[in-house]
Amino acid sequence: MKASCLIVPMLALMPVAALAQDAPASDANVQISERLAAVLRTGRSVVSANQDLINDPEIGDKGLTPEVFLEQVNERFEKQTGKAILSDTLSPLERELAEAQLAAMRQVIADNQSVINSPGVGFKGFIPAVFARLTNEHFAEAMGATAKVKVTAPLDLVRNRKARPDAWEAEAIKDYLRQADWEKGKPFFEEVDDNGVSVFRMLIPEYYSESCLSCHGSPKGEMDVTGFPKEGGEAGELAGAISVTLRR
Ligand code: HEC
Repeated sequence: MKASCLIVPMLALMPVAALAQDAPASDANVQISERLAAVLRTGRSVVSANQDLINDPEIGDKGLTPEVFLEQVNERFEKQTGKAILSDTLSPLERELAEAQLAAMRQVIADNQSVINSPGVGFKGFIPAVFARLTNEHFAEAMGATAKVKVTAPLDLVRNRKARPDAWEAEAIKDYLRQADWEKGKPFFEEVDDNGVSVFRMLIPEYYSESCLSCHGSPKGEMDVTGFPKEGGEAGELAGAISVTLRR
């Protein structure tokens, strides 16, 4: 299905005045959004790769400084994509966004040094989802209205109030990402009107894997290690989405 096919059905639900159906602009926005999501996911996976170390009560200073962390993020991203996060092929906007994401990650790791390094404590609550939320908060502070990244989830699954889907996200999750015939992993995007300004919005679906189920799995309602009731999720089910908003 082409992008234009995706844009049409939502129109019936969300009347938009100024729709920028300019395909090249949309392509660029898709690419920018996917990159924002990829960098965020890389940061999360570095937290995940260090989770046992972070959770180790025997070690005080973990050596997981902002510098070490960012080095691992850059390395991992380059390994996966063949390109550096701050590759010199980036457009000025892409570079600005990537730099803001890295600065946000640096800040989160710096802010949490005393948590990460607290001796005698096992589980510290410093997990990929928390890291991602804090990173996105700093990123939003730096980018203002230009770009926003958020990890959200269907309303019945959402844990943190700050991650609650807004009306557009809730509807797009329900009508597209959660539909049985929605192609796995395919993002949903469209241009929406926000008080006369055309805004690009995109949702990139995320699914539970086995590794998520110790917290989000069964038995539903039982407390997980973080103090939240488990959702009863199963591997392969939609867990949430990375939501990107671009105003430019
Ligand atoms: C150690 C327990 C744990 C594991 C494992 C875990 N999560 Fe979470 N997850 C949480 C917590 C706690 C939050 C809320 C974080 C916050 O404060 O923002 C969360 C938040 C989320 C959110 C954001 C929306 C919300 O509910 O606030 C999504 C989406 C999500 N998790 C998906 C996953 C996926 C997919 C995996 C596996 C790849 C996973 N989680 C693994 C504990 C966990």
